[in-house]
Amino acid sequence: MSEKKFPAGFLWGGATAANQLEGAYLADGKGLSLPDVLPGGKERLDVVNAPDFDFTVDEDKYFYPNHIGNDHYHHFKEDIALFGEMGFKCYRFSIAWSRIFPNGDDEKPNEAGLKFYDEVIAECLKHNIEPVITISHYEMPLNLVKKYGGWKNKQLIDFYERYARTVLTRYHKQVKYWMTFNEINSAAHFPVMGQGLVVANGANDKKNIYQAWHNQFVSSAKAVKIGHELDPDLQIGCMILYATTYSYDANPVNQLATLQTNQANNFFCGDVQVRGHYPAYTKSLLARQGVQLSDLDYTQEELDLLAKYPVDYIGFSYYMSAVVDETNDDQEQVSGNLMGGVKNPFLQSSDWGWQIDPTGLRIALNELSDRYQKPVFVVENGLGAIDKPDANHYVADDYRIDYLKKHIEAIREAIDDGVDVMGYTPWGCIDLVSASTGEMAKRYGFIYVDEDNECQGTFKRYKKKSFDWYKQVIATNGDNL
Ligand code: BG6
Repeated sequence: MSEKKFPAGFLWGGATAANQLEGAYLADGKGLSLPDVLPGGKERLDVVNAPDFDFTVDEDKYFYPNHIGNDHYHHFKEDIALFGEMGFKCYRFSIAWSRIFPNGDDEKPNEAGLKFYDEVIAECLKHNIEPVITISHYEMPLNLVKKYGGWKNKQLIDFYERYARTVLTRYHKQVKYWMTFNEINSAAHFPVMGQGLVVANGANDKKNIYQAWHNQFVSSAKAVKIGHELDPDLQIGCMILYATTYSYDANPVNQLATLQTNQANNFFCGDVQVRGHYPAYTKSLLARQGVQLSDLDYTQEELDLLAKYPVDYIGFSYYMSAVVDETNDDQEQVSGNLMGGVKNPFLQSSDWGWQIDPTGLRIALNELSDRYQKPVFVVENGLGAIDKPDANHYVADDYRIDYLKKHIEAIREAIDDGVDVMGYTPWGCIDLVSASTGEMAKRYGFIYVDEDNECQGTFKRYKKKSFDWYKQVIATNGDNL
């Protein structure tokens, strides 16, 4: 047993997103959201980036797994009870924007949608689980994409503000922890999920990505303002996709490229949201991508808002690390969490080619903490794997336990390094639809859902081996891994 300890009050839990598990995609007044038009299958991101993609559902051609998810909408009580049984201190989930504002630009919210989350939150509190809410997790109302062209349109700031005000006002008494946008920086590579931008509506023009980010930064600051006016104790964080990025070797060319890759991929969005202003390298970063500051539409009033309302903490996802090599085009490539790169010869990869690197998590925690001097929260981490249940639907997922154990050890080391880590919410604590590939077969959960890639199955929930393992991790506050 380690001498090193997790602090009292450490937020052990798990994480999900509405569009990936709720299903019931048109129930009780919900409108279509962007993921409702993402087909299932590994090629889903290519399909939506075809130049003629028009955001319509074509059931003759495709299957849409997000329409069904794992049917959490009808199982949430059972699911949250299982989280309670594991001893979760918190549960990170998102609100589906299109349940609350079905078209995004509606004047009034949909009361039935709000009621659903009243019940989800009440269920969490019944099991002594602290809700942690992502206001927008890759699930903007589809109408905001089709009619307004996604986040590059400044009108979305007002629509998001209305939505954020509605949910913060409704739930601030029960919910202390919030995040404004999931993996806001993923748009550097895949702007479809977070910004509603595909080739057909301007994703290839980098100016649109930066304009969309600016609009999101302003919206995030507005959410912080609204939240803190309701209750100064609310903790409202950003959420970034973080892949610790190494230079392949000591060649200064690669070292410089790694610095610039870090700025572009890992730091830019957090720098604005946490520090409250655009970093000094903004102009050169934009220039490298062919964008001028004068291309962007921003006002002094907006910059003042960013400065006045930075986020309270840094939430981030961490699945893998990445490697940069500018000097050799022939390096073997690997895939990754919305961004791939050069293969690291020292690391193993998951079934989906993501490079497994617990030490990289310790480095990430130190880097983020040192850069921002604010608490950090590991709000996603985990192993997407093919589980093989036995005849009793039991999955002996020792590979997942091994992955999580090593990453929890890395967090413990980082805490010992002096990092203020708020908590740990492994991704997909119950099996759900994969964001990048739309598969059910890419499972992360402690809880197995009997359902295949075509969303066929009994939808029954079964505890995996990792369920009992994680339960005792939480019960011993991380002493017993
Ligand atoms: C993150 C997202 O990118 O990684 C989640 O915030 C996503 O929505 C998770 O599910 C794992 O990625 P994937 O593609 O394996 O589902």
